[in-house]
Amino acid sequence: MAANWAPHSWKGADARQLPDYPDAAALDAATTQLGSYPPLVFAGEARNLTADLARVAAGEAFLLQGGDCAESFAEFHPNTIRDTFRVILQMAVVLTYASKLPVVKLGRMAGQFAKPRSTPTETIDGVTLPSYRGDNVNDIAFTPEGRIPDPQRMVRAYSQSAATLNLLRAFAQGGYANLHQVHRWTHDYMGRSPWAKKYTETADRIGEALDFMAACGINPDTVPQLAQTVFYTSHEALLLPYEQAMARQDSLTGDWYDTSAHFLWIGDRTRFEGSAHLEFLRGIGNPVGLKCGTSLEPDALLRMLDTLNPARVPGRITLITRYGHDKIEAHLPRLIRAVTREGHPVVWSCDPMHGNTIKAATGYKTRPFDRILAEVRGFFAVHRAEGTHAGGIHAEMTGQNVTECTGGAVAVTEQSLADRYHTHCDPRLNAGQSLELAFLLAEMLNAEMAERRRAAA
Ligand code: PEP
Ligand code: CO
Repeated sequence: MAANWAPHSWKGADARQLPDYPDAAALDAATTQLGSYPPLVFAGEARNLTADLARVAAGEAFLLQGGDCAESFAEFHPNTIRDTFRVILQMAVVLTYASKLPVVKLGRMAGQFAKPRSTPTETIDGVTLPSYRGDNVNDIAFTPEGRIPDPQRMVRAYSQSAATLNLLRAFAQGGYANLHQVHRWTHDYMGRSPWAKKYTETADRIGEALDFMAACGINPDTVPQLAQTVFYTSHEALLLPYEQAMARQDSLTGDWYDTSAHFLWIGDRTRFEGSAHLEFLRGIGNPVGLKCGTSLEPDALLRMLDTLNPARVPGRITLITRYGHDKIEAHLPRLIRAVTREGHPVVWSCDPMHGNTIKAATGYKTRPFDRILAEVRGFFAVHRAEGTHAGGIHAEMTGQNVTECTGGAVAVTEQSLADRYHTHCDPRLNAGQSLELAFLLAEMLNAEMAERRRAAA
């Protein structure tokens, strides 16, 4: 257990990006209520994820993390959850087939509500109000009442997370994740899309592998793993009053866990030495992510790694790099060399979204798909040069057919962004773009594996 740590010890550190709740008694009532509620995940599940991530750190698995930038109360619907889950599974099948590595599936789901903002206030037509900070804090509607932080929103976010997680568990274990079914969806989808040709060969080969297995008697009836999957949840541990209220001491080990999700990460704006967010996550047993942007120096990172993972437990830390397509090759090698030199066993994951956000001429925040793919290519190239495992991808995506990121094989143009722009925060990849990303990742992972085999021969 971490020394001199308590679930509330973050309050003595530099706490940024937290709302100012005007009513302390109401905040206290909401967090007391949450503290009495059941945990959403169990400590043992978080430990299983650490073990799975340790395999990624060792180069024996790949991490696929994806979901909304921000979940919302308005978009809460079983079909939305189902469709995002389905695309993540489809991506995982493509990646597993190409790399022959197990894929660890981690949703940005069932708790991803709180958002860091670049400015504390927003001004529209001369009116200045507090910024929107996510549905668990205040309302996206630009009204004075709506923008007041309301602690009861945390209780509503907890209920939505519980219902979402319940459905995800049912999908993962109740037969929906059947490997043959997942492949059929991809096949059908590709049959209807103009870009299919490029990837049909891979899809056909997956189909052949499944047919061959079936002929050998390996099917979901004989091997139940083919009909089930393990699916974990994650979100940015930004809203510390909520995360503290969800902290529970594990009865088996006596260690503290944040039971709001299996995996929690620290965002780029709250990731600095002495931050309240670092202090909180230092003491919890879950696997933890750190977003690494251009402001992060290797020395500071090493000190933060010593703080978060003094025992150097493999799988405890995932470094999620988010530089931008034109900056990754300049920044990433220094971090890799420092971390490798000090022997920290981390997972390296690529967030190709947050460094590639631009404003379209039409005013929409968007991300050109080409730049997203370029950052992914840069990520693989750097890891290849450094001899480290390109371990994972972190994507903002949805199973819906939204028009938020430009480009892709079924091209979304700047003019068509307005058609279905639904995000509550950053632009997400739609289902087709997500699958296209998976095929590109598959090519690169395949190349990494081929090179490893050559080096071993
Ligand atoms: C996010 O993941 O939604 C986010 C805000 O990322 P970052 O902290 O890397 O900017
Ligand atoms: Co985002």
